[in-house]
Amino acid sequence: MQSLYSNGFEHIYDAMYRSFINYQDEYDFYSALLNTYFKKSILEIGCGTGNLAAHFIESNIQYSGLDLSEDMVKLANQKNPKGDFYQGNMANFKVGREIDAVLITGRTTSYLLENKDLNGALQSIKENLTENGLLIFDFIDASRFFNTIKNGKAVKHIANYNGIQYLRSSHMKVNTELNNFMFDWKASYYKETNQEKILIAEDDSTVRAFTKDEWKLLLELNDYEILECIDRKSYAFDTYVYVARLKNPKL
Ligand SMILES: C[S@@+](CC[C@H](N)C(=O)[O-])C[C@H]1O[C@@H](n2cnc3c(N)ncnc32)[C@H](O)[C@@H]1O
Repeated sequence: MQSLYSNGFEHIYDAMYRSFINYQDEYDFYSALLNTYFKKSILEIGCGTGNLAAHFIESNIQYSGLDLSEDMVKLANQKNPKGDFYQGNMANFKVGREIDAVLITGRTTSYLLENKDLNGALQSIKENLTENGLLIFDFIDASRFFNTIKNGKAVKHIANYNGIQYLRSSHMKVNTELNNFMFDWKASYYKETNQEKILIAEDDSTVRAFTKDEWKLLLELNDYEILECIDRKSYAFDTYVYVARLKNPKL
């Protein structure tokens, strides 16, 4: 098994996701939210290879990125020499200065498998935010998505980048053995050339989806209040975006 986030595969991730996700749309959506709440500095958690970062770095919002994978951070730095990227775990991190808003996009919350890590992340975020700081994140909506993968579902995604066609062949199935709303996601990545299909990576992971109410309670227990819940379908998933604010004064 090979994670797409390290050991050279971060380049494949980068190529494919630039085709799956329209980062200009992502930037337009999230920067509009930040402007609505007058936020001037952000930390993007799970910044990956810095595709969203590239837009923020060119804007008037002060940007920092954090990612668990050293290889993703290295590539993000190479692509964005003016960027400010850190390696770290969202479940427990410190950036050394207070920021106005934390952004977690691309369904990176799916990697908060245990509530211990999720609560750790909400507490770490709180410690790194200014008073009234904002937390904006997306998550896969279990209520809708699990009905579609209850008995297993095969999905194919094709991406074209730099003249190369990539194919991701996925199989997703609800995992009923674990405590949270988890699903198994097996993915095989291929490069397609001249009718030939070359396997380049395989990923076998178990990731998490959430209900809206689950997040609502988790946020409240960690002293955040919800300002907005936005239904925003992403390329493969039923997704919500929550905009939450630290209760004032910081508890
Ligand atoms: C699906 S990718 C999304 C990347 C990026 N947001 C995008 O939209 O292209 C998830 C990212 O989260 C990172 N990640 C996973 N677990 C993490 C953790 N505990 N702390 C910080 N980053 C994490 C991975 O290394 C990967 O770069």
